[in-house]
This record gives sequence, structure tokens and C-alpha cells, in this order.
Amino acid sequence: MKTQVGIVGAGPAGLTLGRLLELQGVETVIFEARSRAYCERRIRAGVLEQRVAELLHTIGVGARLDAEGIPHRGIHLQFAGERHHLDFEELIGRGIVIYGQTEVVKDLIAARLESGLPLHFETPVESVDPDSGVIRHAGGALECDLIAGCDGYHGVCRGAVPARTFEREYPFGWLGILAQVAPSMDELVYAHHARGFALLSLRSPQLSRYYLQVARDEDVAGWPDERVWEELRARTALDGWQLHDGPVLEKGVTGMRSYVGEPMQHGRLYLAGDAAHIVPPTGAKGLNLAVNDVRVLAEAIVEGGLEHYSRHCLRRVWRAEHFSWWMTTMLHRLPGGDPFDEQLQLSQLRYLTTSQPAACSLAENYTGIETV
Ligand code: PHB
Repeated sequence: MKTQVGIVGAGPAGLTLGRLLELQGVETVIFEARSRAYCERRIRAGVLEQRVAELLHTIGVGARLDAEGIPHRGIHLQFAGERHHLDFEELIGRGIVIYGQTEVVKDLIAARLESGLPLHFETPVESVDPDSGVIRHAGGALECDLIAGCDGYHGVCRGAVPARTFEREYPFGWLGILAQVAPSMDELVYAHHARGFALLSLRSPQLSRYYLQVARDEDVAGWPDERVWEELRARTALDGWQLHDGPVLEKGVTGMRSYVGEPMQHGRLYLAGDAAHIVPPTGAKGLNLAVNDVRVLAEAIVEGGLEHYSRHCLRRVWRAEHFSWWMTTMLHRLPGGDPFDEQLQLSQLRYLTTSQPAACSLAENYTGIETV
């Protein structure tokens, strides 16, 4: 088969698509505006649904993931001074794997370069034409049978699809740190607290990744390391347990937003990942949605059914949108501090930690629903 697919963007969506198509003998060219070093340094999510981890393994980029990825059975929910474990494996027989998106990207870039396939860094795409399939870029133009827009929310592809958009901005953001210290918890802790939400995550046995709810336009300058640690301690405090601190390697604030553009395709252009949808990070869905989009896209390119691509993806996307919104509104302190809202949050958290069906629902969504 001879279909040339132009892929815009070398994030997880674009690179995974390139690999999936390579294995099916489909010719691809990838354009990326940033440098390789930038792509391999950018710190993003760190939770892989088990099936996404399995897919990466199947496409031959799982060696480091197998060696360094940390399988987790579930997560902890903390509220009202108590910490509860939800054991996803026990509840639904599926877990998650902790492995940084940055590492996934490094593995995929290495595999692509080893195959000697075109991957043009520092080559911004100026425009894409869904009718002709032409990609105009810094070095010229390329006519493709099909264009995959994997260049994120701020890329050029999103605007080339006439779409109905659905959006929600949240009145808070996350301040995230990467710290050189062994994680203080074996599995992730999502903490509801009167001072605001906190999340304890990790990247490796030596690297912790922690987050605090802050204002959406919060200035990092107002958060020296000591203040971050103090606030993390206050929000995750538990009798008989201690949060260990260490050198902070990275610190940044991200706003939280939900967004969906429908449809995800127009003419020869197909959007995948953040170019088509954004979720707030509370459900750990962003990277997983992107990989699942391109799994569907690659299959449709090879086997047919491209006309159903958007419809097929959007069912899963909306499930993840709902789950991410729900986790976000359940766990964050809502500005204004309405006591009624707070009681609803606490009731929902108690329900999740006392009812097996409720816990199963969270587990099913968190670990990824295949068909909805
Ligand atoms: C992370 O480790 O970066 C992370 C984990 C879980 C989330 C969001 C981010 O829900």
C-alpha cells in the first residue's frame, strides 16, 4: 500500500502514529516546530493506562518502559484527614503504569531515527490544506494523501477543521514541581483539603512529582521552594506519615481547561490528541487519549473506515472529558468556598471509598474504557 501520511507534530500522538504506520508499511513524514532537545525535555504527564503501555510494548518501544515503568495497582484518595486506597487491580483487574510522557517521547524518537524515517525538527508548519492535502512548512511544501494534525492545541491544524467547540475553563491552576527525592508514597495520592487540592505523584524511585492547586494565573515567583513544601505538607498531612523534601528541579504553573472540537476530521485532515481535545490533568487522561486516537486512526488508514474516525474517537473522548471534569470538581476547592459544594464533594469521596460499585466506576474510567 502506498499512502503518504504527513504528520504534523512529534509529540506522543504524532510519533506513535508514525510508528504504527511504519509497522504497516505506510509511508510517513513528521514535521515538528521545536528542536529534538526541547521535545525530549518537556515535562508532561506520567500515567499510562495499562492498555496504552501494552500498545507501546507491542509496537517495539517498550524496552525501557518494561525496565523503568512502575506498575501501580491503584491510587489513594485523601479527604477529611483520612487516606483510602482504591485497588484498581482488585476492583476491575486492570492497573496503570507510571512512566513519564517525556520518556515515551524519547523512546519513540529513538525508534524512528533508528528506522531512518523522516522526522524534521525545527520545521514549523505554516499551513495545512484539508482539500489538497498540502502541508506548507518552513522548508517548502509536501502533498499528502492524508494529514494527521498532532500539533496540539496551539498548532495550525486545529484551525483548519471547521468545528463546533465545547469549552470549560476552571478558576484554578496547578503548580507542579519535580523534586530530586524518593517518593514518600508508593502510589499516587489525590488529596482534597480545605486549603485546596494536592497531588503526590512520581517519576522514578528517585524523582517525585507533586502538585498544588493555585490560582490559574498564579505567579511562580511567589512560591519559593520552602513555601511549596510547607503547603504540600499542610494539604497531605496524616498522623504517622511524613512527606520528604529535596531539591526542586522544575517548577511551573498550568491552567486547567476542558475543550472538545467536533468533528475531529475535515477533508484529508484528521486531528489527534490535544489538537482535538483538552482535559484537565486530574484524571490523567491527556496522553492516553492521544495514543488511543492514533490507534484508531492508524487502523482506519490501513483497514478503511476513515469516515468514522471522528465519531469513533469522540465517544471515548467525551467519556474522558466527563471523568476529568468530575474528578476536578470533586477534588478542588471551589473559589467562593460554598459550604454546600464542599459537603457534596465529601459525600462523593465517602461514597467512592465505601461502595464497591462506585469505586469500580472510578477504576474503570481511570484505567481506560475501551468501548463506550
Ligand atoms: C503526573 O505524574 O504528572 C500526574 C499524575 C496524575 C495526574 C496528573 C499528573 O492526574
